[in-house]
Amino acid sequence: MKKNIAVYPGSFDPITYGHLDILKRGLELFDKIIVAVAYNVDKRALFTVKERMELIRESIKGNSHVEVDSFEGLLVDYVKKVNARFVIRGLRAMSDFENEFQMASMNRNLNKDMDTIFMMTSKDYFFISSRTIKEVASFNGCVSGLVPEIVDKKLKEKFAKK
Ligand code: PNS
Repeated sequence: MKKNIAVYPGSFDPITYGHLDILKRGLELFDKIIVAVAYNVDKRALFTVKERMELIRESIKGNSHVEVDSFEGLLVDYVKKVNARFVIRGLRAMSDFENEFQMASMNRNLNKDMDTIFMMTSKDYFFISSRTIKEVASFNGCVSGLVPEIVDKKLKEKFAKK
């Protein structure tokens, strides 16, 4: 039987409960989801891709329907390589929409067989982003309840070293 695979791409620097919420709900739609960490040339990352993948692995607690991977270059090429057709993205607010709409349209222009599925972030997490999490953690603010415990711990370690 053909498996229904989706790719959930992102920077995940680091993974938050917002991402995990999208992942959990995405698993109700797909047999398998590949969480794909992008080597994003535009963004200065706090965690290396390897560290981000490790944090995702620890956060999904051995869920056999989730695979963790990384990719370089175009998302459409990666999606083709893993034989997927769908990409999942979370949408928090109108401000996310414009960029997401542009990316999804560009991706569709590059590969008309690929579709982006948008899921609305749950109300408990709509204000979370990896960027704000890092900012709060960098000033020693509390982010527990917004990220998995292991992420909270690693953030503290990173900022203690800086
Ligand atoms: O978590 P992010 O930073 O919002 O994720 C953005 C990401 C990684 C999904 C996006 O930048 C991406 O797909 N990068 C790969 C390069 C690519 O395919 N760009 C074309 C889309 S316009």
